[in-house]
Amino acid sequence: MNLLGRDRSLDLAPASVHDYRELARRRLPRQMFDYIDGGAYAEATLGANVEDLAAIGLRQRVLRDVSERRLTTTVLGQELSMPVILAPVGLAGMFAPRAEVLAARAASAAGVPFCESTVSICSVEEVAAAVPGTPPWFQLYVMRDRSYAEDLMARAQAVGCTTLVLTVDLAVVGARYRDTRNGLVGEVSPGGMAQRAIDIARHPRWVREVAIGGKPLTFGNLEKAVPGASTPDEFRAWVDSQFDPSVTWDDLAWVREHWSGDVVLKGILDPEDARRAADAGADAIVVSNHGGRQLDAVPSSVAALPGVVEAVGDRIEVLVDGGVRSGLDVLKLLALGARATLVGRPWAWAVAARGEAGVAHVLEVVRDELLVAMGLTGVTDVADCTPEVLLER
Ligand code: FNR
Repeated sequence: MNLLGRDRSLDLAPASVHDYRELARRRLPRQMFDYIDGGAYAEATLGANVEDLAAIGLRQRVLRDVSERRLTTTVLGQELSMPVILAPVGLAGMFAPRAEVLAARAASAAGVPFCESTVSICSVEEVAAAVPGTPPWFQLYVMRDRSYAEDLMARAQAVGCTTLVLTVDLAVVGARYRDTRNGLVGEVSPGGMAQRAIDIARHPRWVREVAIGGKPLTFGNLEKAVPGASTPDEFRAWVDSQFDPSVTWDDLAWVREHWSGDVVLKGILDPEDARRAADAGADAIVVSNHGGRQLDAVPSSVAALPGVVEAVGDRIEVLVDGGVRSGLDVLKLLALGARATLVGRPWAWAVAARGEAGVAHVLEVVRDELLVAMGLTGVTDVADCTPEVLLER
């Protein structure tokens, strides 16, 4: 502790994903940290994503020659150095200057995919140019203006993207109370404006590096769609009004007309929807509740995963995200049938705290944790992770 009661040790040597969360909390203005950290309504599902994973026990197994442990796998035919993918995170360029580029570089160096969000600050062209040979995955929100979505798909394909992640759990936007309180959405009162200004002024490094150094701070993928908008707030208001609530399963055919690569549906929780996704020709699905940011009271991702795997695990690849904070969590989800896991907040915190090096380190931490967890549960290949490694629940 220093004289102000702050534990400085974390500034020196972050060891875990949780340490990066703490560093991000210190580095970012409150409204930005809460935007990453928060969830919908009472944040019950957000909490359950983490708690349900933590409640699963691992079986310690010994004397099994674990000198070689294989982490490599494939997702949709693509080689991954470990079963981890950086999830699409909107507005990341507000956490660190050109954050999407930084994260994509770290992911590329680590041999895992980076998924570019529709609502990124850096455009898909900027990100793809930064990682030649390892194009990002591209995440699409279906917007009311379908021709714009078609244009986005064309742009992503033009720079080499082959995997489209179609997010399907945002037909309407869940209320995130922290964002409302912090004035990130909705009307901001004069008092709220003042509070926001004070909060930002208390983070001069963020102002210098991101608010000034990270420009242009507009949504790179959407600039042409909202020519009048120049601030993130204006873009966000436009984006929130643009999500198309009328999308149905039939629209998958429309996506297929415009996308020649693989299509991943992200935001499936229900086994019946998983079956529909497989019937409709999705190549993979992501079991996800949007990191607890959409509807509260829906199941945690880990609770939903086994039912979905049982329904479609032999037909399509099942990925999962929500609450993964360590390599141990990755092992648990693989054991329950996931092919790979996505991580959202972990890379958002890391990029806010330490830029590209932070994301690289978080990936290294998760990799090391996974290796140790495999070693002590007697698993030598991620492909052999079965429910056998879990304690009976
Ligand atoms: C997200 N997520 C998200 N998903 C998506 O499809 N498009 C997006 O633009 C975003 N934006 C976004 C912003 C922030 C700040 C967060 C935290 C999350 C959801 C994300 O892809 C993923 O599903 C969750 O983050 C997974 O949960 P964890 O890993 O954050 O617990």
